[in-house]
Amino acid sequence: MCGIVGYVGPRPVIDVLVPGLAHLEYRGYDSAGIALNHGNSLSVLKRAGRIADLRLLIDQESLDDAISGIGHTRWATHGAPNSGNAHPHVDCDRGVAVVHNGIIENWAVLKEKLIGAGHEFESDTDSEVVAHMIEDMGDVPLAEAVRRVMNQAEGALALAVMRRSEPDVLVGARRGSPLVVGRGDGENFLASDIPAFLEHTREMVVVDDDRVVELRADSVSLTDLEGNAIEPVQHKVDWNFEAAERDGYPTFMLKEIYEQPHAIADTLAGRVSPTGQVVLDELEIDGRMLRAIDKVFVVACGTSYHAAMMAKYAIERWARLPVEIDIASEFRYRDPVLDSRSLVIGISQSGETIDTLAAVRYARAQGSLVIGVSNVVESALAREADAVLYTRAGPEIGVAATKTFTTQLVAMQLLGLYLAQVRGAVDPGAVEVLVTEMLRLPDQVESVLSTSDAIEKLSRDWTDTRDYFFLGRSGDFPVAMEGALKLKEIAYVRAEGYAAGEMKHGPIALIEEGVVVVGVVTDSHVRTKTLSNMEEMKARGGTIVLVAEEGDDVGNVADHVIRVPAGPDLLCTVTAVVPLQLLAYHIATARGMDVDKPRNLAKTVTVE
Ligand code: M6R
Repeated sequence: MCGIVGYVGPRPVIDVLVPGLAHLEYRGYDSAGIALNHGNSLSVLKRAGRIADLRLLIDQESLDDAISGIGHTRWATHGAPNSGNAHPHVDCDRGVAVVHNGIIENWAVLKEKLIGAGHEFESDTDSEVVAHMIEDMGDVPLAEAVRRVMNQAEGALALAVMRRSEPDVLVGARRGSPLVVGRGDGENFLASDIPAFLEHTREMVVVDDDRVVELRADSVSLTDLEGNAIEPVQHKVDWNFEAAERDGYPTFMLKEIYEQPHAIADTLAGRVSPTGQVVLDELEIDGRMLRAIDKVFVVACGTSYHAAMMAKYAIERWARLPVEIDIASEFRYRDPVLDSRSLVIGISQSGETIDTLAAVRYARAQGSLVIGVSNVVESALAREADAVLYTRAGPEIGVAATKTFTTQLVAMQLLGLYLAQVRGAVDPGAVEVLVTEMLRLPDQVESVLSTSDAIEKLSRDWTDTRDYFFLGRSGDFPVAMEGALKLKEIAYVRAEGYAAGEMKHGPIALIEEGVVVVGVVTDSHVRTKTLSNMEEMKARGGTIVLVAEEGDDVGNVADHVIRVPAGPDLLCTVTAVVPLQLLAYHIATARGMDVDKPRNLAKTVTVE
């Protein structure tokens, strides 16, 4: 994933591009660059590193006469993350500049052809082919040239392109990777995501797949790839710019951890009836269709996959439907048996993860009903699914998913209960009891957050610990998996999430003094079994930490106990994961890590 920004209008162009890129840095941050169009020349500034490094290259005065510009923050896919491969890329004559997000799958063939025609390439990227393709077309208007590029390029891509000879024009195109236009008064913006221009305008137009957009300071024209005009549909952005800022917290991740009570309350809002039943009319799926379903598949990646793990327990337990869960990148390749009676649920906070999109596309091609669960309105997943259930966590900037995970858990619990209701698999009284408990979750998470200082204190002993296990069974298993993933990705230490009962079949050989073993024991029907598994870890010298419900007598197996409010099985996943987010956060910050931008990771993974 990369971040694209573009601007045409009267402001000093770098003053729009550089702050815009800073707001998109969560999309990739291994190199950054800008290109400015001065009418008689293009200036290109780019380098490996972050936006702060790019700023060092900028000599404001010499760039102030620019009429338009494009910028890019990169997460490398083709070619090493060095300055040469940083975007923008230009053609041989330095007349065309291009920034690109995604992968041009047939780039090698295109490049070979261009080299055959005499073009010289400077980078190892797939993106550079676009600049040379446009140069090769000669005197074709830029928008038309970009349409031709889109017709030849295969794969997912978003482009922003400009040309020296058309300084008042900026052209964007999209297939698969996100692109939005910000409409201003006498100025227009192009970006991968709204925060890039939100300080300038709230009016936006989503660029759909296979569309080309031409921006001038006073106009926005949209066409399909044949050049047919399409009326742009304008929306008003109704969330605050401040929502995407840190709000006084030292990091986005901490801010987002603390936003969870609110995010969970928002995700529940309007989805529970006064009689305590789940209301998901927004899905607009006929009850008869849901009753005809005979199997459910849940597909997702990373943290979202852990929400899928919880969903399996919830749907099987409450709706009595068989559920299979798949890591999305594996789904298609195992030849799953799907038909029109299968319900496939794709979970993706970004709604742009290519593996998850490919899995749901595959499912739709088999005639299955697809529900997308996404945090981003109008994301690709939302648009491709038959129905969408939004988590309402607000923008999540930290690379490590936190509030989007707990809201995914809540959304999947709502969906599990809704399926159970519609199919008559559960008594309305039982739904009411669970839903009433769900409405307490925001306050319960709030009370867990108040233990952050104690968790920080506890974590001080483990700043240099290199080996952790996170164990749980049943509903506690996905929580353990998520705790381990959080620690791995932000603190760069080995942390294994494991089913507690499976340890004795091999991994227990790794337990010795110095290994920290975190056991989650909030699922009542397996807690005694998990506790005996923890005894086995203690006997091998592990330091034992338990996440247990308030009032639960866990005996003396634990060296430390972190308490969370008591609640029904599965619902407890929401509260139980919060101390593990905090634990990972405190260990990572004590180790001096940049938790918002962990190495090698990107917020959204749009490559297979
Ligand atoms: O946007 P998605 O939910 O589809 O993203 C899936 C994973 O890439 C994501 O959850 C990743 O594992 C996060 N870095 C976890 O914190």
